[in-house]
Amino acid sequence: MSKHWTLDDIDWQAFEPAKVDSALLAIIKTAAIVEANAADYVTYLLNVFEGDEAFCAVVHQWGEEEKQHGAALARWAELADPDFSFDESFKRVTEDGYQLPLEVTESVRGSRQGELLSRCLVESSTTSFYTAITDAAEEPVLRDIAKRIAADEVRHYGLFRRHLERYEADEEKLSILKRIRVVLGRIGEADDDEFAFAYYATNIAGRQDVSYDQEECAAAYHRHALGLYARNHLELGGKMILRAFGLKPDRVLAKTLLPVMWLAFRRHRSQFDKAA
Ligand SMILES: [Fe+2]
Ligand SMILES: [Fe+2]
Repeated sequence: MSKHWTLDDIDWQAFEPAKVDSALLAIIKTAAIVEANAADYVTYLLNVFEGDEAFCAVVHQWGEEEKQHGAALARWAELADPDFSFDESFKRVTEDGYQLPLEVTESVRGSRQGELLSRCLVESSTTSFYTAITDAAEEPVLRDIAKRIAADEVRHYGLFRRHLERYEADEEKLSILKRIRVVLGRIGEADDDEFAFAYYATNIAGRQDVSYDQEECAAAYHRHALGLYARNHLELGGKMILRAFGLKPDRVLAKTLLPVMWLAFRRHRSQFDKAA
């Protein structure tokens, strides 16, 4: 995996403050923290895949790229909001926020295949997410950054999927039930503490005298983030997930599942709108 770009490739001079959207800014600050947490994921993956040299060899570079996503988004957010300090927020997260179980030697998904399928899911959803941001952002520097990140996320998906397919060829493939469990488990976690606390640390803590409420912060984050998605963004990630799952997106079952995914997504999103 080669590094395609660095922070020096971004034309920071092209930044247009008048085109910053405050809701989008809140999301970008949160995303910067989550991306910057990649070092912990590298440690976790190296533990889970110990002995698999082919995989461990590429995990470091993957982690560097994720960290760079965080650095680019953080720099943009600090440009857009001079009162925002990424370092301060990140310190708050490392001290009080969500922590990955770093000491484990087995995947929390139950198997290496489950872990790789789960990673494919994450990279599919980040592909959708940054494509949606590229389309939503009017500020040109953010649009450029989001476009670059989206391209990286597609490549990351390809990386994890290649290794997933290697495991599926070398050992018994996970049953459909187990694969469904991994997918549903990962989707269920999307509302977890990681994003909620990152939202709190970047947008609320130190600014308002409000203590952390996971449910409220998760709702605030998701209300903004899910609102970015159009059907094509969701289907882009949906097709990637179906492929990793072992379904061809042009088959009848997949063609049926995509509209169902969109309906379920809209229902999920409307809960946050109602709560607001
Ligand atoms: Fe990323
Ligand atoms: Fe990624």
